[in-house]
Amino acid sequence: MNLILLGAPGAGKGTQAEILCDRLQIPTISTGNMIREALKSGTEMGQKAKAYIEAGQLVPDEVVIGIVDERLHQDDCKNGFILDGFPRTIPQAEALDRMGITIDRVVDIHVPDEVITRRVSGRRVCLDCGNTYHVETKKPLQDGVCDRCGSTLVQRKDDQPETVQERLRVYHDQTEPLRDYYEATGKLLVVDGQQDIQTIAEQTLALLKG
Ligand code: AP5
Ligand code: MG
Repeated sequence: MNLILLGAPGAGKGTQAEILCDRLQIPTISTGNMIREALKSGTEMGQKAKAYIEAGQLVPDEVVIGIVDERLHQDDCKNGFILDGFPRTIPQAEALDRMGITIDRVVDIHVPDEVITRRVSGRRVCLDCGNTYHVETKKPLQDGVCDRCGSTLVQRKDDQPETVQERLRVYHDQTEPLRDYYEATGKLLVVDGQQDIQTIAEQTLALLKG
């Protein structure tokens, strides 16, 4: 199953990807996590991306398209994958179409803007493994410590309120048009992202089966 997760920043793409990856036994490819990883290890790509990420802007298409193309052609993607955060623009979707990989389903996790700010401001992330938590809705077992790898949890720089507003603006302007793009292919499924995390995952799995 080759799957795309669509949705605004904070809609729960990463959270759902983690559950679906486990249930479907296919890897998640998160461009946000890959870029943050490059930033942390100080690669040239990471340095280029830093200013964009911190301003809430998208990294240029050609940079992201290159890393996704390379990643999707690795062996572990042969039986399927979950794309979290890609494509995010029409040119990225068109580039994906040209990669010679068929997308089976696109799941749009729908959450209104007013809910996003609350969610994102309470999010804490593990800089080592990328796992995501929330101070109220998805607490780690031990405060400030990642359940999965034991590293320290931090708040993402782009989760500051002003940056979140800019990310939402960019989402509506550049990413939301992808809903129509995939609707036209008959591959789009929509789930209500305001339900609890497990319910959304179960609904998504049911839709994918049906
Ligand atoms: P990226 O890391 O992809 O950020 P994003 O899309 O802005 O998405 P988020 O990670 O903020 O949200 P999410 O939907 O994963 O939500 P989560 O599950 O964490 O990208 C960051 C930056 O990298 C971009 O701004 C851009 O600069 C660059 N970039 C990345 N990809 C790019 C691309 N393709 N092209 C160009 N640039 C790119 O959930 C959020 C919070 O809510 C969590 O705390 C979670 O616990 C909580 N939560 C989740 N679900 C629920 C629920 N059902 N109920 C209550 N709380 C919930
Ligand atoms: Mg995410």
